[in-house]
Amino acid sequence: MRNGYFITFEGGEGSGKSTQIALVRESLEQAGIPVCVTREPGGTELAEEIRGVLLEPRAEIVDVNTELLLIFAARAQHLAQCIRPALARGEWVLCDRFTDATYAYQHGGRGLDVSTIATLEQLVQAGFSPDMTLLFDAPIDITLQRMRNRGALDRFEREGRAFMEGVRATYLSRAQSEADRFRVIDATGSIEAVNAAVKEHLKRLVDRWRVS
Ligand code: TMP
Repeated sequence: MRNGYFITFEGGEGSGKSTQIALVRESLEQAGIPVCVTREPGGTELAEEIRGVLLEPRAEIVDVNTELLLIFAARAQHLAQCIRPALARGEWVLCDRFTDATYAYQHGGRGLDVSTIATLEQLVQAGFSPDMTLLFDAPIDITLQRMRNRGALDRFEREGRAFMEGVRATYLSRAQSEADRFRVIDATGSIEAVNAAVKEHLKRLVDRWRVS
């Protein structure tokens, strides 16, 4: 059986990626492609519990290494119990965030060394990475405005503008240095306009999958 593709959706808070994942799922399913939609941190019972621990605002300061280890603990579980089995069944895995988010948030936002993240990435993924990463990019003023309309904020959404600027800059620099894997999408347009760009990027993968 042919393996599915692993496609990740990245971007800052309020970039509209969740809406786009739902639309992509719908159009792939209509095309007869088996799809598994999942997210990070999370995607399995245990990893979702870790997500709860990570996102909950708390009085205690969370050490950045604690945060990083929890993220990769959830990722190891998610890979073993959800992502790899789904790909082996021939499903396309649409994942709301993956390791690029760790570089963006824990390096770009928190200032953690890239080499520390890379060490854990190697331990947990052993070279495994997405087939395609769609990066939904928008200026921070726009994403901040979208977040303000959302209600209660989690531990990451409470970080300020400088943190979010760092996240965005790291995402964009990774997209530049891994241009084959990344597709940067202007997330400031309407849902329909953004979806048209997403579909255009996925078209080649769909065509390749059909003839494989
Ligand atoms: P979400 O709000 O897009 O569901 O993502 C949950 C939060 O977790 C988001 O604020 C970003 C953060 N996060 C990290 O800090 N590092 C990571 O590696 C991942 C996957 C998410």
